Amino acid sequence: MMTEIGFRNPFRPGAGHQPPYLAGRQQETREFQRLLKQDVILENLVLTGLRGVGKTVLVDTFKPLALADSWSWVGTDLSESSSLSEERIAIRLLTDLSVATSSIKVGEEIQRGIGFNPTSETTELTLNYATLMSLFAETPGLVADKLKHVLEIVWVAMEKETRLNGVIFAYDEAQNLSDHADSNEFPTSLLLDVFQSLQKKGIPFMLLLVGLPTLFPKLVEARTFAERMFRVLFLDRLRDEDSRAAITRPIEGANCPVRINNDSVSRIVGISGGYPYFIQFICREVYDSFLVGNTSVPVEEITRKLDSDFFAGRWAKATDRQRELLGVIAHLQNSDEEFSVQEIVALSKKLLEKPFGPSHTNQMLVTLTNNGLVFKNRHGRYAFAVPLLGRFILRQST
Ligand SMILES: Nc1ncnc2c1ncn2[C@@H]1O[C@H](COP(=O)(O)OP(=O)(O)OP(=O)(O)O)[C@@H](O)[C@H]1O
Ligand SMILES: [Mg+2]
Repeated sequence: MMTEIGFRNPFRPGAGHQPPYLAGRQQETREFQRLLKQDVILENLVLTGLRGVGKTVLVDTFKPLALADSWSWVGTDLSESSSLSEERIAIRLLTDLSVATSSIKVGEEIQRGIGFNPTSETTELTLNYATLMSLFAETPGLVADKLKHVLEIVWVAMEKETRLNGVIFAYDEAQNLSDHADSNEFPTSLLLDVFQSLQKKGIPFMLLLVGLPTLFPKLVEARTFAERMFRVLFLDRLRDEDSRAAITRPIEGANCPVRINNDSVSRIVGISGGYPYFIQFICREVYDSFLVGNTSVPVEEITRKLDSDFFAGRWAKATDRQRELLGVIAHLQNSDEEFSVQEIVALSKKLLEKPFGPSHTNQMLVTLTNNGLVFKNRHGRYAFAVPLLGRFILRQST
């Protein structure tokens, strides 16, 4: 078998790996660019969607757009530990910000204000990590007051020393944010309070929070005004033409040894349901298989591999009774979209010897939500939190 030298399998199934061709998402990108045009920040952004739908790689493409439009960009992945306490989230923000501000000089007024005395070693104060942290430590009051104060000082200096439009605080995996009433720590509320207050004062610090569908309800639960503070973009499966482009564009080049015909492309779109991670996963397999001479998509093999690599781990964590409930849901006509407690209860009466009552169903849905298998959407209905989970469950029972 002759293969062209230098052309490798281009497909990239994996968390946060840029795809060979990023398909679709033009509308979301335009929305983001619109938000960049705000003088006063009235809208922040929540980018949300199921696992593997392409949130992280899309945000990665937002960053250069923001930079080109004279915004500074700071942030990381939010871990659960960084949202354990108010102090931790404050330090997280300042740490991230300091990367962008460390070379910005602090004007004399502020220097005097914070009692800075030039010594022979440090004649000039910059907004590096040490400065931000000492400002934070020296400011009296609650964590929120301290953080607000430091961020205000930073913007005064930035406005003077740079030509930036503002700063974007971008946090991925933001569903890890939570308030902890038991330990009296409210980091989510703090984050929202601080940004709302700064934005009211005209300081252009924008929040971009990225995460699973549990993210936005969490924000609203912490502060109802979050409802008005964020533009929510729900990333969905790719449209058909975009799915096709995601499959064909990467292998268009004249030196690509693999061709995938229209039928096979349609088949891949079908199995993937248009979900980006699945497209990458399936195409990677198909590419390797076609490279050694196969000409049709090995649907069964790929499905089996997807089941064991992607679904099995999550399924294994469910109890028998939970699996029964998930099985009922999978049999609902609308299991791929959204469903209600009543619908589950009604169908379980038809399918099961021991059906689920409403309160039991509610209870179990809460547990399944915490386990990351379902989520409750804005309209109080539920949906699978894992793409194509319904189809997988149906395969288990046959
Ligand atoms: N628009 C797209 N076109 C083609 N492939 C894409 C697209 N978006 C994402 N992918 C691919 O899908 C996979 C998942 O992308 P990504 O990690 O960004 O998803 P995610 O939504 O951040 O997932 P998670 O919820 O697990 O963090 C990657 O392999 C990526 O290359
Ligand atoms: Mg991600």
